[in-house]
Amino acid sequence: MSLADKDRIFTNVYGFQPWNLKAAEARGDWDKTKDLIAWGQDRIIDEVKASGLRGRGGAGFPTGMKWSFMPKESKDGRPSFLVINADESEPGSCKDREILRHDPHKLIEGALIAGFAMRARAAYIYVRGEYIREAEVLQAAVDEAYEAGLIGKNAAKSGYDFDVFVHRGAGAYICGEETAMIESLEGKKGQPRLKPPFPAGAGLYGCPTTVNNVESIAVVPTILRRSAAWFASFGRENNKGTKLFQISGHVEKPCVVEEAMSIPFRELIERHCGGIRGGWDNLLAVIPGGSSVPLVPAAQIIDAPMDFDGLKDVGSGLGTAAIIVMDKSTDIVQAISRLSYFYKHESCGQCTPCREGTGWMWRVMERMRTGDADLSEIDTLYEVTKQVEGHTICALGDAAAWPIQGLIRHFRPEMERRIIEKQGTGSMMEAAE
Ligand SMILES: Cc1cc2nc3c(=O)[nH]c(=O)nc-3n(C[C@H](O)[C@H](O)[C@H](O)COP(=O)(O)O)c2cc1C
Ligand code: SF4
Repeated sequence: MSLADKDRIFTNVYGFQPWNLKAAEARGDWDKTKDLIAWGQDRIIDEVKASGLRGRGGAGFPTGMKWSFMPKESKDGRPSFLVINADESEPGSCKDREILRHDPHKLIEGALIAGFAMRARAAYIYVRGEYIREAEVLQAAVDEAYEAGLIGKNAAKSGYDFDVFVHRGAGAYICGEETAMIESLEGKKGQPRLKPPFPAGAGLYGCPTTVNNVESIAVVPTILRRSAAWFASFGRENNKGTKLFQISGHVEKPCVVEEAMSIPFRELIERHCGGIRGGWDNLLAVIPGGSSVPLVPAAQIIDAPMDFDGLKDVGSGLGTAAIIVMDKSTDIVQAISRLSYFYKHESCGQCTPCREGTGWMWRVMERMRTGDADLSEIDTLYEVTKQVEGHTICALGDAAAWPIQGLIRHFRPEMERRIIEKQGTGSMMEAAE
């Protein structure tokens, strides 16, 4: 059964209604926010834990638990901060922008409640540089919220003081990594920090900080209003809630849609995307969680539950739930090579395996694409991805390695075919000479 309209959190995801405060209030936002804050920090965190909400930014870390790592009191006078990750630069991901431009008050109200729960003094919303109109709408919504007394001093008459700042990035993918984002907010070059210390101990300006994705924060007010049990009634154990899926590529109708977590792939595509272009027999492979996760061949994805565990079981991941569908017209080696180029381009260059490895992997992938490689290089390429994976400061190294590993795992015969064919052409040419 499809998620009923009454159970959708994002009721204005397509922007059919205005984004402004009046319309947001009519949709139920900012309704007795003061009463929710009166629950107190512990009850709010317990409720978020009980809802089973896991971070929507890619890694799926339990949100309530993350908040509980923040200090309960400041022993040295340092304030705490909430940073909201609106960088959304993962290829395929396009859900946070819909929240920013069509439902910004859900995010701002969520920022206040989450910020209060972790005793934060302010929230910084870091918006992807290219999201110009989205940042304008968000800033206008923040201005409205200040004017209405919903944030700022005595926010929403709760007795709690809380500021919200909108900060625009300059268009670097790496600034989506939480510690690079913190560096960038501090005005430095966006390069990830070594952990520990973790941001909850020393983050923005050296103060305790939690970084959360836009969707993770924007769903919180509705979870509190409708109850943790309601949110947890969707999806499987350990994979709870509703989720914004973003389906692009070779489906009849690409879209962003809120659905129950764990919906099987086939059902999601049939119900919301009008099926696969050319029919199900024409499906080649799917990248289910944004470009960083390994692809899954058609036969394995069709019945897979679209959640953290279901996609782990098929050797991939839910990531941001950005589902890139590829039919049989796709040049799969070229597609993955293009992603390799992206990671090479976005590497911040700080650590050697990533700086050198991403360029090396891309150059070999290009030779794989044209067939100008030796068969033995497929194994070498795989080994290099294993040398990069897990040996870098941040997860960009893994993100560059996994798509190639998925390709080799599932499409090795296609890679070999190109090389053999090219060698055949070569020897024919040599013979002709
Ligand atoms: C290279 C890289 C890019 C990332 N980009 C984003 C991003 O654009 N948006 C996001 O929410 N998280 C991104 N993340 C994940 C963040 O580091 C962080 O885990 C996330 O914002 C935490 O939020 P959550 O717990 O609510 O999921 C990225 C991570 C890496 C390694
Ligand atoms: S893994 Fe890559 S992007 Fe991450 S810190 Fe190292 S060089 Fe920079």
